[in-house]
Amino acid sequence: MLDPYEIRKDFPILDRVINGRRIVYLDNAATSQKPTQVINAIVEFYTKYNANIHRGLHTLSQEASQLYEEAHEVVAKFINAYSWDEVIFTSNTTDSINLVAYSWGLSNISEGDRIVLTIMDHHSNMLPWRRIAEMKGAEVVYVDITNDGYLKYDMFKELINERTRVVAIPGMSNVLGTIVEPEAIREVARLAHEVSAIVVLDGAQSVPHTPTNVRELDVDFLAFSGHKMLGPTGIGVLWGRREILNEMPLFKTGGDTVKDVTIEEVIWHDLPWRFEAGTPPIAEGVGLAEAVKYLTKIGMINVRMHEERLTEYTVKRFSEELQNSIELYGPRDSAHRGGVIPFNIKGINHHIVGLALDELYAIAVRTGMHCAHPLHYRLGLKGTVRASYYIYNTIEEVDYLVEALKTIVEMKEQVKATYEGVIPGTVCPTG
Ligand SMILES: Cc1ncc(COP(=O)(O)O)c(C=O)c1O
Repeated sequence: MLDPYEIRKDFPILDRVINGRRIVYLDNAATSQKPTQVINAIVEFYTKYNANIHRGLHTLSQEASQLYEEAHEVVAKFINAYSWDEVIFTSNTTDSINLVAYSWGLSNISEGDRIVLTIMDHHSNMLPWRRIAEMKGAEVVYVDITNDGYLKYDMFKELINERTRVVAIPGMSNVLGTIVEPEAIREVARLAHEVSAIVVLDGAQSVPHTPTNVRELDVDFLAFSGHKMLGPTGIGVLWGRREILNEMPLFKTGGDTVKDVTIEEVIWHDLPWRFEAGTPPIAEGVGLAEAVKYLTKIGMINVRMHEERLTEYTVKRFSEELQNSIELYGPRDSAHRGGVIPFNIKGINHHIVGLALDELYAIAVRTGMHCAHPLHYRLGLKGTVRASYYIYNTIEEVDYLVEALKTIVEMKEQVKATYEGVIPGTVCPTG
């Protein structure tokens, strides 16, 4: 079992004091904090090895190239890819999905084709596909959710037809925490493959929190971000099936995407370099590899179990002590729910709750629509407060959150009066 108190020693930022209180960081679905090991790996890279890769014969360039290539191997092993060169480093999940949409999508989707999305998808797994659909005259349809936040799996059977080219699904909802279980993903992949459609899995929330095995999932693409799994910002991953990647036209072109260029001809590079145009995120790749090693050492099963425990405890305390004053959304069954807790205090705007939690308790949560507007509209919500956990969060912090919420409920009118005028301009209205 994972010991969050031991783990916390590796995260210096968690000792920060804001307004006289030590911070309680519950905004992990937005981005995670970084352990000293990752910070040090990046500092060490810049201190000892910094050079551009694949461009120099000098020692520093050779060493930097090796570290960057090894980072692909570390990530490939983490998701059980067949080979390191199926792993493309991008800048984030959004960039990875856009790569598939603009490269595979533009050359494989035609007028009248169908793209199947889910109402639970983050904008990043929705808007690139809607854009391609618009450009090509394709149709977009959505798998709905049940009232308690599960995907209506039967709808995949109804919606995936001979015209379907793409099915894009999330591994875990960034709002409701709903986990799309591996068996369900495999079944979606089976249905999609029967009609020669591809499956794009948005792993931005699932890869940092649950074990991921692309061979077992049988999807065609997997996208995720380094910064949500202890790594630095500026690096994301796109894993794809080699046979599809090899057939895909380039998305961005330029340095490092080619083996040779004459005025008449271009000979494109091998995988993964043909999809990593220009100077890539080298130090970020090194940092991500360190983050993956850190998570591997803990064990992804242990990460999942820890978060399941925190979630179960939160749902229990919310139901027992805050039932009359708080609306909690998403599955009640923590076995199918990641460490994401979206809620509203009845009668108070979600942003006010977020501001009060920050200023009075130094609790960091996210408020708004979490880049999932269609899901909020489907649920009839203008926004939610979202607490999200990771390996360093503790039961004590859950208790602290619950007690803080109880006080805010008790002081509702006073809290509203204090923060009502502060909302405009202090938060991103579309966030
Ligand atoms: C489910 C999901 N998909 C995609 C993204 C986009 O990730 P990024 O901003 O790192 O590209 C997020 C970010 O919150 C997410 O939660």
